[in-house]
Amino acid sequence: MYEHLLLETKGQIAILKINNPKSLNALNIATMTELNECLTNIEANKDIRVVILTGEGSKAFVAGADIAEMAKLTAAEGRTMSLLGKTTFRRIETMPQVVIAAVNGYALGGGCELAMSCDIRVAADSAVFAQPECGLGIIPGFGGTQRLARLVGKGRAKELIFTCDRIDAQEAYRIGLVNKVVPQAELMDACMTMAEKLLSKSSYAISMAKACIETGMDTDLSSGLDLEATSIALTFSTHDKAEGMAAFLERRPANLTDF
Ligand code: CAA
Repeated sequence: MYEHLLLETKGQIAILKINNPKSLNALNIATMTELNECLTNIEANKDIRVVILTGEGSKAFVAGADIAEMAKLTAAEGRTMSLLGKTTFRRIETMPQVVIAAVNGYALGGGCELAMSCDIRVAADSAVFAQPECGLGIIPGFGGTQRLARLVGKGRAKELIFTCDRIDAQEAYRIGLVNKVVPQAELMDACMTMAEKLLSKSSYAISMAKACIETGMDTDLSSGLDLEATSIALTFSTHDKAEGMAAFLERRPANLTDF
């Protein structure tokens, strides 16, 4: 169905792989276009509640935007490419499903930016992160200057982007760039375990919490707290609120089904 992606579903979990292994899963425009289309379809699919995003092969998550393609782009085309990345990566942050990045190797440039757009990052111990753009005469163009600073702080983001230094998975964990580091062989199992844990919670509540966190990070505290108050009110009218609280009071497992 897709030329540059592999999509598999296991129950309510989608496993989506960037599939350009010959170029270490570099993101060319065709891949980005397919990724945007695929995410749009997943967003509308209420049977999918968690997405695990990874790269095909054992060497790379995504080694960045496609340098061979970018070398030929004009300034106007470069802007169009960046806006496609912006739209695609932003969709990950605004879709109701939880997206887990399973970082299985190099996450460089646009690859690190793609991982940063995901809700949760689980890294293989072999993963390597960097923003090498300033060494190529450009800057991060898929949100790196914005999301890296938000995730690890302005000082560390500037150092990583200016120096283009590569960091390993443990250092990425230490600075808060990834949530968890696991042995490479256990990466997909660890992500599946996390996905199944999320499925045992209310997907509707998780999607509301995600929206509050995403919007709240870009607004003042007072507006964010107002949004939270409105959002919790919405959850009070759901099946999952009635079921989750009844189950607690009756000392039985909850059957949470809203999405
Ligand atoms: N774009 C295009 N092709 C790439 C690529 C990329 N980002 N990364 C790797 N490849 C290709 C290589 O050209 C090579 O292709 P050939 O076999 O046809 O020669 C193939 O993938 C394997 O790569 P290497 O031989 O280089 O493998 P290696 O193990 O020696 O090195 C690597 C691996 C360290 C990841 C190295 O490939 C590398 O540094 N890649 C580029 C990383 C980079 O700079 N990414 C940032 C891109 S800029 C960006 O992303 C901009 C943005 O924000 C929008």
